[in-house]
Parts: sequence; C-alpha cells; structure tokens
Amino acid sequence: MERRQQEQVIASIIRSLGASLKNRKLYPPSHPLVRTPVEKCFSEIIQFFTKQPELALAISDDTLVFEGVPLFNLTSSLDFFMERLAVIGIPAIVFERGLSPDDIDRFIRFLHETKEERLPVSDIQKRIEALGVGHIRVKPPEAEDDHTLAREIYNNAVNAVVTVLQDIRMGKIPSGAESDRVVKDISGMLQRNRDAIMALTLIKNFDEYTYNHSVNVAVLALSMADALSLSLQEKTEVGVAGLLHDVGKTQLALDLIRKPGGLTTAEFEEIKKHPEEGFLYLGKMSHIRPTSAVMVREHHVRYDRNGYPSLGPDYVLHPNSQIISVADCYDALTTMRAYQMAKQPVEALDIMQKLAGKSLDPNILAVLKSVMGSFPIGTMVRLDSMEVGIVTGVGPVGEEQIRITILIDRQGNRLPRPEEVDLGEIDPKTSRPRWSILGTVNPLLYPDAHRGVSLTANHP
Ligand SMILES: [Fe+2]
Ligand SMILES: [Fe+2]
Repeated sequence: MERRQQEQVIASIIRSLGASLKNRKLYPPSHPLVRTPVEKCFSEIIQFFTKQPELALAISDDTLVFEGVPLFNLTSSLDFFMERLAVIGIPAIVFERGLSPDDIDRFIRFLHETKEERLPVSDIQKRIEALGVGHIRVKPPEAEDDHTLAREIYNNAVNAVVTVLQDIRMGKIPSGAESDRVVKDISGMLQRNRDAIMALTLIKNFDEYTYNHSVNVAVLALSMADALSLSLQEKTEVGVAGLLHDVGKTQLALDLIRKPGGLTTAEFEEIKKHPEEGFLYLGKMSHIRPTSAVMVREHHVRYDRNGYPSLGPDYVLHPNSQIISVADCYDALTTMRAYQMAKQPVEALDIMQKLAGKSLDPNILAVLKSVMGSFPIGTMVRLDSMEVGIVTGVGPVGEEQIRITILIDRQGNRLPRPEEVDLGEIDPKTSRPRWSILGTVNPLLYPDAHRGVSLTANHP
C-alpha cells in the first residue's frame, strides 16, 4: 500500500472505531451498529499485518500521527474517537498481529465505560488487560524529532513539484491533490515548529534549484499567511500558488532558466509567458482552487502595476498575490544563481526595502520582515565568543528566541559536528547571556561553512 492509501485506510479505521463507540451509548454491544464497524475496522487493520507486525497510531497536539508523520488532512468526523483517547490519556495505540474483533470490541468497551480522565499509561494498560483486551497496547508518546518530520514534509513537497512538472512535460494534466496535501502539511508543521521547517529553506541546491525554490516560496508564503492570520482556505490557496508559481517555466529550455548574464529581448519575451502558462495549467488541474491560479498569473505583476503580464488598467489584482511575489523575491535573492552570489538574508531584506512601493507591496514586505525578525534564519553571524554560526531558529513571530548553530570555532576551524546554542541562555557565573551576536559575517569568508547545516545541526 502506498502512503496515501494507507492514510485513507487509517482514516476509515478511526471512523469505524468512533462509530462503534458512539453507537455503544445507544445500543447493546451485540447490536449490528456496534458490531459491524468493529468487524470493518478489524479487516482494515489486518491489511497492515501482511508487511509489518503492528500498526501504531499516535496522537500529538490533537493530530493523528502515523509512522512519525502527522495526518493533518484528516476530516473532523474522526475527532470523536481521538478526543476520547486524549481525554482518557492515551497518547498512542498499537494494534499487534494476532488481533481479533473481540479485542477491538473490548477495547471499545473500555473507552465507553471509563469515566476517569488523564489516567497514567501504565494504569490504562493494566485495565485493558484486565478486560481481556489482547494485541492492543497503549504507549507513551515517543520523543518526536521535529527536524526529521520537517525534512520529510519538505521532501514530500519537492516530490510533489517534481511530479507536477514531469506530468506537464509529458503532456498530461497533473493532479493537484498532492500539492494541496503537502501545503497543508507544511502549514501544520509551521504551527508545530516553525523554525524546523523555515530552516530548511536554507537548502539551496543549484541543480535542483527549481524544485527547492518552489518549496521555499511555499514555506515563506505560508509563514506570511500565518502572520496575516489568513483563514485555512486562504492559506492553502497561497501555499499552493507558492508551490506551483513557476510551473509555467516547464516548457522553457533549462539553459535559458539557468543562463548567466543578461537575456536577449527574445529570450525575455519567452520567460514573460510563464505566469500566464502557469495560470492555464493550474486552471486545468484538479484540487486546485481558482484563486491559486490567479495568484500564479499575477506573481510578476509589480505593486506599481508594471511587470508582466500586462493585464490592463481596470484589472483588479488579488490582494494575496503580493505574498507570492515577496516570497519569490526573497528566495531568489538569497540563492546563488549563475548570475548572482547569494545575498545574506538581512542584505536581501535591505534590497527589498528599496523596492517597496515600486515592485513590492510595502505592507507585505513589512510582514516578511516581522516573520524574519532582526536576524533571519540563514544569517551568518559572529558571536562574542568569536565563534561563527548561522541562525537556525528565531522562535515565534514577535518574541525573538534566536538559536545559532555554531559552525566555526574561535580559531577559525570548522567544527566536525555543528552545535546549536540558544542566545537566551544565561551563564550562571555571570548572570548574563552566555552568547551574544557581534554582527553579521560575510558568508564568502567561509564558503563551505553552512553546507548541509540545517540537516546536521546537533539539537540538544
Ligand atoms: Fe516566476
Ligand atoms: Fe520564482
């Protein structure tokens, strides 16, 4: 079974468990409305046992987690069962090979009859065993590594873009379902641990530029959408537009996209077609809201209405299109291209400030700045200890909690294992912060320093 299919089966299992539990309030245990969902979910659970000895489902922050990845897209019809688990205090359940419908039935009985809340996990385990429940275990939550999770979500997003572009190249109309899904995952991850996913926008792989750029723009745009308190639907529209904003470039020759130096007029005319092409592709894709297509069309229309395509004086731009333009501009400036060195995040924001009111909307730019804070993720800095590091965490918007991953020791040597430090940490000897930032450092002085840093940082 593919992950997608597995998630659907899991949703169905949870739905059946919920239905049986709900109906138990009204009907005797042998009633078909109680028993049939148990049989149904039993047959679905055992599908997993062909490949693995157990099926573990965890609940973290009201979200169901399967194999370490949250299922952010589950519908609210599943909440009933999950809420019941949360109230009793069950962080994770494991179904084991050998399970029978009676085990499930007794487990439902336990959930139905237990009145106490927030029981210790060991207590719950004893009680279910006393009720004769076999092959179902409850488990304490695992220490989940947000960085692993964020990386998985980032990679899924890259794969979604790769698939869309491949489909277009092959003349197929791609599905937008996966794009919609990964955007919701990114959005969930931004809520859970914003720094973990934002730090991945440091991935600037020259060969994979288009894919990483697309995902970075989606992440940046979603973080701005969060700061603007947009609704979930609007956030998804913005995220999908960010992810797919450049799909219209698919038909352009790769060497044109990567061409160093200036373009000829004819070449630029070719490039200028991509927003309109993208608009047309998105319009044909399933699971894509028309607003996302509109934002793709408008992502190179400047705030002062110059740019391209020229849509006429009466055309009303979508108010969220500039979120994509601002995210696009920021990621492009901070990325090394054939024709430019990567700018430091602070430098990029300074350059963008000069464009405010011309190509960029000053209000949206202000949102990006507030999201980034005074030392944006990715900024290379020197600490008062003379060590050099890169900002890998900034904490929630408005309350700076800067974390630096130290890469270079005070002698100028690259550390074999980067170490993350928290600028808020107080040195007990002096009662003053243990580290503070002296200033930013030109990354060209340490060309290889942050290669792979967000992936290898040692998080204490
Ligand atoms: Fe573009
Ligand atoms: Fe772009």
